[in-house]
Amino acid sequence: MKILVINGPNINMLGIREPGIYGSQNYETLLCDIDAWANELGCQVECFQSNHEGDIVDKIQQAYGEVDGIVINPAAYTHTSVAILDALKSVGIPAVEVHISDVTKREDFRQISYAGMACEEHIIGKGLEGYHLAMQYLCKKYK
Ligand code: DQA
Repeated sequence: MKILVINGPNINMLGIREPGIYGSQNYETLLCDIDAWANELGCQVECFQSNHEGDIVDKIQQAYGEVDGIVINPAAYTHTSVAILDALKSVGIPAVEVHISDVTKREDFRQISYAGMACEEHIIGKGLEGYHLAMQYLCKKYK
C-alpha cells in the first residue's frame, strides 16, 4: 500500500512557527517519524509539502492510479480551498484530514474545512501523532 502525505503552507516552518500551538518539533523530524511509521505499518510513503495551492492540486491529480491513500493537512487552505476539495473528490482516493492543533477550539474562520468534506476520517488536535493515527487508519482499512 502506498500513502501520500500532503502538507500545506507553513507546515515546513514547524518548530519555528507558533511553538505554543504547533510544538517544537521541526518538519524534518516529522518526515523521519513518518518514514518510521511507514516502516512499522509495512506501507510505502511519500511526503509532499507546498505553500502553493495549485501545486497541491497538481500533486493530488498526479496521485490518481498511483496512490492508495492520502493523509492531508491542507493547513490554511483547509478553510479556503474549494480547489483542493474538488481535486480530492476528482481522484476518489481514500483521504484522512489531519490538523496538528485543535482547530475546533480556535478562531471562527478555522471552523470550516472544505478539504475535510472529501475526507472519510478527521484527526484533529493530536499534535504530530495525528499523522501516525491517520496512517494507521488507512493501513488498517485498505492494506
Ligand atoms: C493547521 C490548522 C490551520 O488552521 C492552520 O492554518 C495551519 C495548521 C493545523 O495543523 O493545526 O496552518 O492545519
